[in-house]
Amino acid sequence: MTKNCEISESPIQRLQREAYVSEQWFEREKKELFSKNWALAGVVSDFRESGDYKTLQIGNDSLIVIKDGDGQLKTFHNICRHRGTELLEGRGNTGRFIMCPYHNWVYNLDGGLRGLPAAKACFPDLDKKGVNLIPASIGIFHNLVFVNPSEKPEERFEDWLGGLDSVAWPHNLLSEDLEESEEFVYEINCNWKVFMENGLDGYHLAYLHKETLGGPLHDKNVWEPFGRHLVWWSTEREGVKHRIPQFVEKASKGATTVKDAEEPGYGGVYAIFPNTLITPNPWGFSTSIIEPVNANKILMRVRNWAPKGWLSYKVRTKDAPGYDKESGLIKSSHWKVHPLETGDFQTEDVWVCEKMQRALQSSHHSVEFLAKGSGGETALDFFQQRVLDYVSIE
Ligand code: FES
Ligand SMILES: [Fe+2]
Repeated sequence: MTKNCEISESPIQRLQREAYVSEQWFEREKKELFSKNWALAGVVSDFRESGDYKTLQIGNDSLIVIKDGDGQLKTFHNICRHRGTELLEGRGNTGRFIMCPYHNWVYNLDGGLRGLPAAKACFPDLDKKGVNLIPASIGIFHNLVFVNPSEKPEERFEDWLGGLDSVAWPHNLLSEDLEESEEFVYEINCNWKVFMENGLDGYHLAYLHKETLGGPLHDKNVWEPFGRHLVWWSTEREGVKHRIPQFVEKASKGATTVKDAEEPGYGGVYAIFPNTLITPNPWGFSTSIIEPVNANKILMRVRNWAPKGWLSYKVRTKDAPGYDKESGLIKSSHWKVHPLETGDFQTEDVWVCEKMQRALQSSHHSVEFLAKGSGGETALDFFQQRVLDYVSIE
């Protein structure tokens, strides 16, 4: 399906303004892009006991990921085989079976129909053996759990990884050395692609993030493609591919690092197509899922892992700029100081992405110039081509 997975020398803006603001375009993305792709559902340790489950939305599909009685991870569509009610919500433990709340049909953890009320009288001809929850697909990569809504995806998980498994990866998420802090959920008023493109933009690092990341400059950072995905390195240290900007490394001297994370070679950001950013660094590991809500809004779910007992890293959501205690979300409407005064690069990105989205509403908006170089804005062109592999311009 992917036609050209090289980064082009002369980047161009390929997506029209409508792709960032139109609900019709977003409807097409849900059907034609998200529902055909692999999505990060969590980590292996989210599912410790049999019956532990999570639900997630991918495009128009709702999926359940669950650990069955044999310790296997399974994934199904969150649809009852009777009249289609959504079976589970959020996450939790469902015990030894899944029961539909509507008419109490009961399923085993492997998806098979176990029983139903008044079976003989109401469904005399129904053979339970042939009735199962609709299966989806699961793939595991470095203890990260990915799912695909199709039982037979157009692209096998190994092919979709596109060689990412050849890139160094020092962090073992199941290691005793690491512990997870609270999940941060940002509500951001921008299109999911505006946020992803900001994440891929090597040109802004030295300017918007002058005080927080301190660069690197456009010619001192690189994005390298692996299938549809991209991996980022700083090259400030005489061309050596390094996982963090030099400025950040100096500022963090003496901080507790994760065992093994001093190994060279791994990237600073792994942009997993379509909407996930993974950032391993010497002090921890984080995953950010850029979940579209509609064409003009996202929820970004950020999980962080850090060395055990390192209290300074145990940032709490309530300390994040923009935390709203009513909803538990982090939002620009609740900022108390100017974003550039927070000293938080994430807040700087949120600020600029919302500014981009407001400007995109104007019919006078157009993008004619993108910075050359793999640490400029060429990764945006690459990303837009990957979107267009799925959602072609009509
Ligand atoms: S819809 Fe689930 S039991 Fe009827
Ligand atoms: Fe940024």
